[in-house]
Order: sequence, then structure tokens, then C-alpha cells
Amino acid sequence: MSHVVVDGLTKHYGDVVALEDVSFEVPAGEFVIILGVSGSGKSTLLRCMSALTPPTSGEVRIDGESMRRPRPEVAMIFQQHNIIGDLSAYSNALTGGMNRSGFLESFLQLQDDDEKYRALDALDTVGLLEEAEQKARRMSGGQQQRVGIARALVQQPEVLLADEPVASLDPGSAQDVMRYLKAATEERDLTTFISLHQVNIARKFGERFIGLQNGRKVFDGYRDELTIDAVDEIYGDIDTEGMFVGEETGAGEEEAETGAAP
Ligand SMILES: Nc1ncnc2c1ncn2[C@@H]1O[C@H](COP(=O)(O)OP(=O)(O)O)[C@@H](O)[C@H]1O
Ligand SMILES: [Mg+2]
Repeated sequence: MSHVVVDGLTKHYGDVVALEDVSFEVPAGEFVIILGVSGSGKSTLLRCMSALTPPTSGEVRIDGESMRRPRPEVAMIFQQHNIIGDLSAYSNALTGGMNRSGFLESFLQLQDDDEKYRALDALDTVGLLEEAEQKARRMSGGQQQRVGIARALVQQPEVLLADEPVASLDPGSAQDVMRYLKAATEERDLTTFISLHQVNIARKFGERFIGLQNGRKVFDGYRDELTIDAVDEIYGDIDTEGMFVGEETGAGEEEAETGAAP
């Protein structure tokens, strides 16, 4: 479990402000959703947090140590899961050990029993132990994304970063993937950050929410603080109504609950 501090994080691409003075602190073990429209800076934030992108200024500290280069205890999951279709779920998961054991060893599957055990254990965490032998290309999009999560878990991270991990999935598979991400966070004592644009899925699974708009943090709060008004604030002029489709309790209902003081 790791304590994460984002301190004055700023990233400019020429004249483009991708992130501007973003700061927040997340205690170990939280499950955090990053919200914001396309272009608001979600990917840039996650890339800076994993040290894939150097910030213009500010820094990210994990357990007090500045993230200046990628570290195995911080794992990233992408929307494009980069799963190798011809390999089994198990072999794909094993390649997660790459950061620790080197590409060639990993590719040739020269891992020790410990790594093999970790790959199976990770597949178990994402509910795919029974499918371990199955070729990835024969799996559904949601299952493939779960293989991607397993691969990240083999790295034995303490912080898990997922950039729109459910963006290309149907609503049912998206919820499955979110459920497994949450289960993995709890089982493995992770501190997890997930960027999402589907508000209803975010509210169903998230505990803490950080909202970005034009690279600035415009919201930081827990589930009960993420009111409809707060969502409107994060999404500005964008019509968020469609983003609530499929939610059991209607958006209006909840607003009435929190807004009606006798
Ligand atoms: N490599 C890059 N070069 C130039 N501009 C970039 C680059 N990456 C992101 N941006 C810009 O930074 C802003 C934030 O982008 P991004 O972090 O991808 O947002 P999101 O993930 O929320 O869609 C956007 O204006 C985007 O065009
Ligand atoms: Mg993005």
C-alpha cells in the first residue's frame, strides 16, 4: 500500500496546457476515479504519475519518494490492452514479470516457479483461472482487459493506474472489469487511480473522485459529495444526461434527496 502525493503538477506541450498546478493527496488503499471530458488532462495526469511523461513542473511522490522514472511498484493499464492474441491468458499474464525479469527471459518463459505462481494467482484475482490456457484472441474484450489487469498485477504493484480501462467495452463488460479492479485493490492492498468518462459507472464503483477541466482540478471529494451539480461543474457545457443511462436510482431522485432540507 502506498501513499500518493501529487504536488503542483503542471504539464505544457508548447502552448497547450495539459495540466496546470494539480495537487492532491491520496492515502494508501483508496480507489480513486479521475473524471473529465476528452482533453481535460486525465491521460497526462496518469502518465505523469507513472513517470512515462516528465512534468513541466511539480512532482508526484509515492511514499515520499519522487517519481522521476518508472518503478515496478507503479503499474499502468491502458485502454488498448496490448494483449498478444496468439498467446494464452497465462502467457500474457507472465509477460507482466518483464519489468522484473527482463524481456528475453519473459518472452522465453524462463521464469521461476514463483513468477508462474504469481501469474496464476493474478488470473485468479481477475476471475480467469479456469481460462488460463485459452488463447487471448478467443476471449471477449472484457476478458482480454482482465488479462491486461492480471499482467499488471504480476508486477506486484502497490499503485495501479488505469487509463480508461473500460472505454471500448459494452456496459456489462465494463462493470465486470470495474468490479475486478475494485476486488484487486482490496485483495492486494493497492492504491488505485482509474480515469473514466462514464459517470454512472464512476459513481457506482468509485470512493473518491478527482475532476479535471482544461488541465485544472475542479473537484476532489468522496462519493456523497459528487452530486449532480458537481458532475455538471466537472463536465461544463457537455450534456451529461446520457452518461447516466442505466443507473438504478435516477439522477433527479438523488438530487432531491441531497437538496431537500425541510
Ligand atoms: N503528446 C502531446 N503533445 C501535444 N499535446 C498533447 C499531448 N498529449 C496530450 N496533449 C494535449 O493535452 C491536453 C490533455 O490531453 P489528455 O491528457 O490526453 O486528456 P484526456 O486524457 O482527458 O483526454 C489535450 O489538449 C491534448 O491535446
Ligand atoms: Mg485520455
